[in-house]
Amino acid sequence: MSLNETKPLKTLIVQYTPRNERSNTKKILDAFIGEIKNSDIERLDLVQDVPDLFLEQNLAAYIHRNYLGEELSSEQKNSLSKMDRMTTQLKSADIVTVAFPMNNFSMPAPVKAWFDSVMLKGQTWDVKNERYTGLMNGKKALTIVSSGAIYENGPMTPWEHALSLAKVEFQFMGYSDIRGILAGGMNAGEDVKSLNLEKSIKEVKAIAQEWTREK
Ligand SMILES: Cc1cc2nc3c(=O)[nH]c(=O)nc-3n(C[C@H](O)[C@H](O)[C@H](O)COP(=O)(O)O)c2cc1C
Repeated sequence: MSLNETKPLKTLIVQYTPRNERSNTKKILDAFIGEIKNSDIERLDLVQDVPDLFLEQNLAAYIHRNYLGEELSSEQKNSLSKMDRMTTQLKSADIVTVAFPMNNFSMPAPVKAWFDSVMLKGQTWDVKNERYTGLMNGKKALTIVSSGAIYENGPMTPWEHALSLAKVEFQFMGYSDIRGILAGGMNAGEDVKSLNLEKSIKEVKAIAQEWTREK
């Protein structure tokens, strides 16, 4: 690459849409992907490539390495290798889009496990001068969620912990531009569903255009 050639943007798509072609979430995500221009696209399918959970061995290895700065044995290193791979992948992307349905008022467990896998101290956030500091400045994050009920306004609003949690996670990692789409009412009848799907599709297309098209 010559000096005056700029590096192409990279967009990472992280998705958990196990209903595949029937998925409401996937319809919105596909509309976003269809509008991307001038960006490489990399995908992580959390249904196929399920993140590890922190359990005894890998949690101890994480603390010893990332908090205490100790060398790990090869067995300890191996216990963190999938988390490290997912973290390196996230760090390589300028834009990350995470798409999933709401499950029991929050994000599905594989999506939470992905956030736990990539929110590693010293990698995507750190403590500097006794303050938590995100390390992902300058990058953009979009979360796409679909849900059966409506949480935008009304009595269900305080029950929403899917999009709101994803936004907090990206904020903690220091992302500079954090957007979110919650397509509610997917179980509220055909009219409401198609109206909200169309609205969300319009919104994600506009975000893809804003983020990836040359001015
Ligand atoms: C296991 C499970 C849990 C769900 N939990 C909720 C929930 O807590 N709140 C809600 O509004 N909808 C809930 N739903 C409905 C889905 O979020 C909704 O139908 C969504 O649009 C499905 O996305 P998909 O079409 O991409 O699979 C749940 C669905 C399933 C299968």
